[in-house]
Amino acid sequence: MISPNTIKIVKSTAPVLAEHGEAITQAFYKRLFIQHPEMKNIFNMTHQKKGTQPKVLANAIFMYAQYIDQLEVLGGAVESIAQKHVSLTITPEMYPIIGENLLAGIGEVLGDAATPEIVGAWAEAYQALADILIGREEDIYLDRTKKESGFRGHKDFVVLKKVVESTAITSFYLQRKDGTAIPEFQPGQYIALTLTIPNTTHQHTRNYSLSDCNCKDYLRISVKKETGTPDGVASTYLHENIEEGAVLSVGMPSGEFMLKEEDKPVVLIAGGVGITPLMSMYKYLTNRTNRKVTMIQCALNSNVRAFETEIEEGKKREGVRSILLYDQALETDVLGKDYDHQGYLDAATLAAVPYLKESTVYFCGPKAFMANTLSLLNILGVEEEAINYEFFGPAEELELVN
Ligand SMILES: Cc1cc2nc3c(=O)[nH]c(=O)nc-3n(C[C@H](O)[C@H](O)[C@H](O)COP(=O)(O)OP(=O)(O)OC[C@H]3O[C@@H](n4cnc5c(N)ncnc54)[C@H](O)[C@@H]3O)c2cc1C
Ligand code: HEM
Repeated sequence: MISPNTIKIVKSTAPVLAEHGEAITQAFYKRLFIQHPEMKNIFNMTHQKKGTQPKVLANAIFMYAQYIDQLEVLGGAVESIAQKHVSLTITPEMYPIIGENLLAGIGEVLGDAATPEIVGAWAEAYQALADILIGREEDIYLDRTKKESGFRGHKDFVVLKKVVESTAITSFYLQRKDGTAIPEFQPGQYIALTLTIPNTTHQHTRNYSLSDCNCKDYLRISVKKETGTPDGVASTYLHENIEEGAVLSVGMPSGEFMLKEEDKPVVLIAGGVGITPLMSMYKYLTNRTNRKVTMIQCALNSNVRAFETEIEEGKKREGVRSILLYDQALETDVLGKDYDHQGYLDAATLAAVPYLKESTVYFCGPKAFMANTLSLLNILGVEEEAINYEFFGPAEELELVN
């Protein structure tokens, strides 16, 4: 129970902390990685370099401060953080380390303004939030371990098969190294991989959505090779160095982007490699249900498009259809024959989807694609409760596009 005095101090200092939120979280992470370099094995250091994770943490703390006397408002946020933490095998023992460094970050940025009373109040508030997260994470861990083939923490999985899906995306089929059955998961969920990459100073942990039906005896991930300056560390290593027989350290399937239990039609909208969780949903829906399904796949062109065979296979079932959009079609890609629409997803294409307004919609892809999709769904009057999406990075607010 947080004391009334703490609530008062936290609420009154929250705007100041919000103003300096990113500076505080930057200072926090800097301290954390100096004092606990082992934390680099868990945190995505690219999110640190790009500043996305400090921003997300700053927002989470500020939101918490605003609602400190109505914690029930945080329910949804707590669940998605807890699911992410569980995938990464975060333990209760790590919380004091984060707490100490966060408070030190507050002290460093606010200087003399961080009086012992203020720091004490924030320490109490942090502990209360930590208790909520630890409690929820423990429940999830226990629930998972109770299930057949469930486990806690990371386990060794062996690469059964490596399949090139397109010039950009390669799939890895995984089974437990000790021969135990794979853990249960819901289509749409993800795992974490912790990779030991030679000539790098720490391990690299990344989330990957499961891309096949939950009706198989393997877990499948499908990874896009991130090119750029520099090339993506984990995805390049997976593409270039991980072959059949390799052993990978894998966390428990987690996440709350999953199909709702209902019979409504489903519209799946995929941008690029964002198709992976939707592919898992598509394969489950087409194999195990009679629900009407529309898969809208947006890709650059036929070179990078993945899963053509699997999408066509699903369409053999009545009530399943797909729409393929290319925005950088090759000369050899013939409109009307090889693909259905040139350019980005637009209102006319989406409005033509049968049962759109009665459907539950799931989408995933790059941030600009997601913002555009959300705007179109709003314009076309799809109810907010019917809209579900997943970020391939720290969850952010989507800014609607006009
Ligand atoms: C829930 C979830 C599910 C996901 N599912 C999938 C999936 O199914 N398939 C998939 O392919 N990915 C998925 N991802 C993304 C995945 O976790 C990785 O982020 C992705 O593979 C890139 O990791 P990387 O190590 O290869 O690239 P990183 O090394 O993390 O680099 C990422 C990008 O940042 C650029 N970059 C690196 N350093 C800098 C810098 N200093 N400044 C500016 N830019 C820089 C790189 O050029 C690259 O383009 C998912 C993510 C989440 C959170
Ligand atoms: C009260 C305490 C905490 C809060 C409020 C918090 C909040 C968050 C939030 C908002 C995210 C982003 C979720 C998303 O991807 O959408 C996140 C991710 C994460 N958290 Fe926490 N967290 C807390 C404690 C911890 C602890 C103790 C650890 C242990 C090391 C930890 C490790 C991580 C990691 C590794 C990620 C993923 C980072 C990335 O992808 O770059 N967190 N957390």
